[in-house]
Order: sequence, then structure tokens, then C-alpha cells
Amino acid sequence: MQLKEKTHKGLYIKNYGCQMNVYDGDRMHELLSPLNYKRVDDPNDAELIILNTCHIREKATEKIYSELGRLKKGFNNPKKNTKIAVAGCVAQAEGEELVRRAPSVDLVFGPLTYHQLPEMIQEITDRKKGKNKALVNIEFPARDKFLSLPERANKKEAVSAFLSVQEGCDKFCTFCVVPYTRGVESSRPAVQIISEAKELINNGAKEIILLGQNVNAWNGEGLSGNRWDFSELIKRLSELNIDRLRFTTSHPKDMNNKLIRCFFNIPKLQPYLHLPIQSGSNKILKAMNRGYSKQQYIEIIEKIRDIRPDTAISGDFIVGFPGETEDDFNDTMDIIKKVRYAHAYSFKYSPRPGTPAASMDLQIDEETKKERLFKLQELITSSMKTFNESFLGRTLEILVEKQGFEENQISGRSPYLQSVHMEGHNSLIGELLNVDILKIRENSLFGTIV
Ligand code: 5AD
Ligand code: SF4
Repeated sequence: MQLKEKTHKGLYIKNYGCQMNVYDGDRMHELLSPLNYKRVDDPNDAELIILNTCHIREKATEKIYSELGRLKKGFNNPKKNTKIAVAGCVAQAEGEELVRRAPSVDLVFGPLTYHQLPEMIQEITDRKKGKNKALVNIEFPARDKFLSLPERANKKEAVSAFLSVQEGCDKFCTFCVVPYTRGVESSRPAVQIISEAKELINNGAKEIILLGQNVNAWNGEGLSGNRWDFSELIKRLSELNIDRLRFTTSHPKDMNNKLIRCFFNIPKLQPYLHLPIQSGSNKILKAMNRGYSKQQYIEIIEKIRDIRPDTAISGDFIVGFPGETEDDFNDTMDIIKKVRYAHAYSFKYSPRPGTPAASMDLQIDEETKKERLFKLQELITSSMKTFNESFLGRTLEILVEKQGFEENQISGRSPYLQSVHMEGHNSLIGELLNVDILKIRENSLFGTIV
């Protein structure tokens, strides 16, 4: 289908939530480029606005309704007839309800149907204003979305690039909406992944971050039709002309020994693992349906540190899950001390409509959740500080990703995913450099090139 038009049109995409949404947002842009859409930073400059939403926590839906209200008020150029689309997991969960409550919305589509964006835009453009209602497309289609996506476009500053290899989740943790919004677990075939990786490399990527809701559950078709597991995929990708590989997010249940050995066997795989435990209490882990105990989680960490002692561990925590007592909470605090996290995200439990935990007894009051979150975050901050301070005076290999905030400053990442800033010319973007670490700030390190 040829839908080329002459003038450029503004495309404003606002991504909420996880890296999968950032990836999807980029892919939406690539799909719309042949229709002459160019990304803009201000919704007032846009002919098409896409809110790429996340449903995972906290009044996500209400936030989107307020954003839609703000957008409508903010339009200073009504003649433009700007189209508003809601994408992502809130769109998937709300569907028609979004159009009913926010009539300014022209288009609603989910994470599994965005590949049809050019056709959907054509359809809403053809519809006469006021005569037809909005288009809602939240099916779980049979056809593989990825087969309909264009080649990866050349994106500025794409030294480190995301590559989605797996989508969806069958784990059904009792607090989580993902299995309902992103569908069942599915793994892209290796041939697709390898060819997308090559496109990214041709566009200048030096690091590839493999993405998936349960990335280490990847189990897909290999190159000769046989099945590969995730460690095989990593091995094959590491043979490409790339400096670094990472993957996120992993589930402890799928962290098998073969995959753990990759942290030793494959030097390009960076020593950083995001492995959410959620709670340190076995009782709560069971109620969450996580499928592992605290002891099993610790065993995994020990195995990784046995073979690659410097591996930085990061995690996710939920406080105030239904039935969580002070003792359960203290078990979570203990695990943070034991694991010595390099980084972690933490959240108050937020009941999600339709999930089993939302209707469990013994919901925890907001005040207790707040107090626990505060204590937990204090501990995590101190753990991160200790981790970062251990690098003072050492030399780290930094992949330079972009220009820094200050003049003649460049920024990059250490193998442990720390942001590192140093003096240097932006011609060094894309290089791997040894940097002496001289100063530690809360969220970043500062150094000089050796
Ligand atoms: N409430 C709070 N946090 C949640 N997460 C997922 N669902 C919920 C919820 N209902 C957190 C988990 C997960 C991260 C992506 O978001 O910690 O790992
Ligand atoms: Fe949600 Fe659990 Fe699946 Fe992660 S593993 S996406 S927390 S259901």
C-alpha cells in the first residue's frame, strides 16, 4: 500500500511505563515515517498524538483521562484537526470505554495491533468528522505483528538499542495485569531477531538490550527450524559485530544453569542482571504466585556470583501486598541487605482491577504502605550508594552513548549500567573507553578518560 503524502506532519508520542513501550513507540514512528510523520516534542505541533500507555500500577487509567483532558484544552490550533490515539496497555484494558469517557479520542489500539497503524490512520482520516465514531482495535491478532514491521530506521544516538525478543506472560502473578493486556508468552523466531540486530548494528548500535516481559523465558524457533533456548540466542547474537549485550526483565523461575553460565562464557554479556524478587517473605511470594522461595532466589544469585563475582544485581519490590505483616516486610528488608543490590525499583502494592490480589482479604492501608516504602527505599538508596562508592578510584570501561549536559562533556554507561560522565568531544560517541572514576554522585559517576 502506498500512502505517501508531500508535507511533513507532526507526530507526538508520549511513552509511559517500561522499556517495551519505548521500543513500541519507536516502531510506531518507523511505521508512520513513510506517511511523512516526523516526531515533535510539543503536542501543539502535532497532527497525530499517541499516548502509549502503561497499566501496571496506580490509577494509570485516571492519569490517561486527565492527560486527554489537558491535551484537549492545550490545543492552540484547532484547524489542524489533530488526531488523538491511545495505545498500549490502558488501551488494551479499557477499549471502547476510553472513547465513551473521552470522546476526543479518535483511535484506540493495543500492544499487539500497532503494526496496523498506517491502515488505521488512513481509516480515521477517511471517516467524516462527527459522523463516525472512533476506531477501536484491540484484538489479539493471529498474524505475527513483527512480520508487518518495517526495517529499523536510523535513529540518532542509537549507540544502545532495544530489541524486543519476547512478549506477553503466562506466569499470572496475582498482582499483575500484564498477562491480560500483553497476552500469552510468545517468542520471536531467531531469524527475525538476528536480522533486526544486524539492522541496528548497521545503524550504529554498539550495544543491544534484549527486551521481554519474561525475556529469559524466550524459547523460539532456531535458524534451522529447531528450537533454541535463550542462552543459545544470546550466544548467536554475541557472534555479531557488537560490543555489548544485555537483557531485561528476567524471572527467577526461568534462570537456569545454562543461562547463568552465559555470564561467564560470553564476555559481551554485561555483568548486570535485573532479577525481581518482589518480596523476601515466602508466605507473600506464595500468595503472589511467584513460583520460587526466598532461598531459591538467593541460590540463583550465589551461582551467578560464583562464576562472575562482580555481577551487579537489580530488582523490583512490592510493599504492602495483601496480608503482609511487619515480619514479612522485615524479611524483604533482610533480602536487600543479603543481596547487596546495585539498583532496585520499589512500589506500593496497587490493586489492579480483575487481578486475584485485588479481591484478597487483609488489604494493607495506605499509611502503612507509605511507611514501608519509605523505609525500603532508604535501605535501597544506601545499598546503591555502597555499590557505587566501591568504584571510586577504579578504572571502568565505558561505552559512550551521548553528549553530556555540560559543554565538552560526554556520557555513557559502565558494564554495571551506571551513568558515567566525563570531559570529551562528541566524536567519541560510540567508543568504548577506559575511564578513571574520580567522583560519585547519587545517580551517576564522574571520571576522566585514561
Ligand atoms: N502493584 C505494585 N507494583 C506492581 N508491579 C506490577 N504490578 C504491580 C502492582 N499491582 C511491579 C512489579 C513488577 C514491576 C514491573 O512493577 O514489581 O516487577
Ligand atoms: Fe507480571 Fe508476574 Fe508476568 Fe512479571 S511474571 S509480567 S510480574 S505476571
